[in-house]
Amino acid sequence: MDIKITKAEGDQLKPKPEDESQIGFGSIFTDHIFLMDYVEKKGWHNPRIEPYANLRLDPAAMALHYGQEIFEGLKAYYGRDGHIYLFRARDNFLRMNRSAERLCMPKINIDLVMEGLKELILLDRDWIPRSPGSSLYVRPTMLATEPHLGVRPSKEYLFYIIIGPVGAYYKEGLNPVKIYVEDTYIRAAVGGTGYIKTGGNYAASLLAAEKAKEKGFTQVLWLDACERRYVEEVGTMNIFFVMDDEVITSPLTGSILPGITRDSVIQLLKSWDIKVSERKLSIDEVVEASEDGTLKEAFGTGTAAVISPVGQITYKGKDYVISEGKMGELSQRLYDEIVAIQYAEKDDPFGWRIRLD
Ligand code: COI
Repeated sequence: MDIKITKAEGDQLKPKPEDESQIGFGSIFTDHIFLMDYVEKKGWHNPRIEPYANLRLDPAAMALHYGQEIFEGLKAYYGRDGHIYLFRARDNFLRMNRSAERLCMPKINIDLVMEGLKELILLDRDWIPRSPGSSLYVRPTMLATEPHLGVRPSKEYLFYIIIGPVGAYYKEGLNPVKIYVEDTYIRAAVGGTGYIKTGGNYAASLLAAEKAKEKGFTQVLWLDACERRYVEEVGTMNIFFVMDDEVITSPLTGSILPGITRDSVIQLLKSWDIKVSERKLSIDEVVEASEDGTLKEAFGTGTAAVISPVGQITYKGKDYVISEGKMGELSQRLYDEIVAIQYAEKDDPFGWRIRLD
């Protein structure tokens, strides 16, 4: 399918950020957007790149009422060699198709959206920041657009990709964050939608996060929905604990998002012959390990922040400081390695980079 390109001109072209250290996360977008439409029986059609602009949606569009919406998050980088790279983008689109299946939405053709994304990034390549730690964030999105208020899957959809320069996700950057162990609210239950990337999961997480922030924490540690006992995720990220010589993360049993960075961490640890276990880990085991000194490090993993060290968790009113509140050795090693691969400063033995130019 040919991708039709309409270039932005005149006042459709936006000023680029002057100070890359101030770009923050998620509020600056480039000059163009990739879009395509879906109608039942006809399938996906009209792939195009246009000047970035507001969407026109019918107020009855089903996504706005029943939450049939999915998205992805990935990044592109200027490599040290001057080439532009995407990191594991196909894995994101594969996950998006799993999200689509769960919410009765149509699958996308991965080759087509990869081509659209490549064209979009190359067209807006001057927006890719070059300072260390910054990148171009990519946000593929699909939503139900049919104007209809009966509850059933929509027959019409819009898929689009927007991109924008980003810096650190958390204002703490790589400084360890303080985490509140949430034992009232839950993020997701097995059988629900915790394993897919849909807006509703994030909407449902906001209240707990806001309450934790009011108490001075950066985010919450989510426990399982049935027993409020097993650790699941931290904020919007997957969680890892380093105990003695074992690195532990929650298994993908249905309520956990299968993070691409989570998977990269697991692959790297295995390649370094470090024991990594995807197993259930109770908060009591974490507390015990903290008390007897075997809990060495804890960190979150996600596309936005890559590795976010946890310096303290607070559970039932008691604080447990981890790694003296500093970034642990293994967290740092993982961060350095992943970032070095992303910025093409190192070989890519896993085939994660996709060169675009
Ligand atoms: C991530 O990339 O870590 C996230 O899931 C956060 C994103 C929703 C902004």
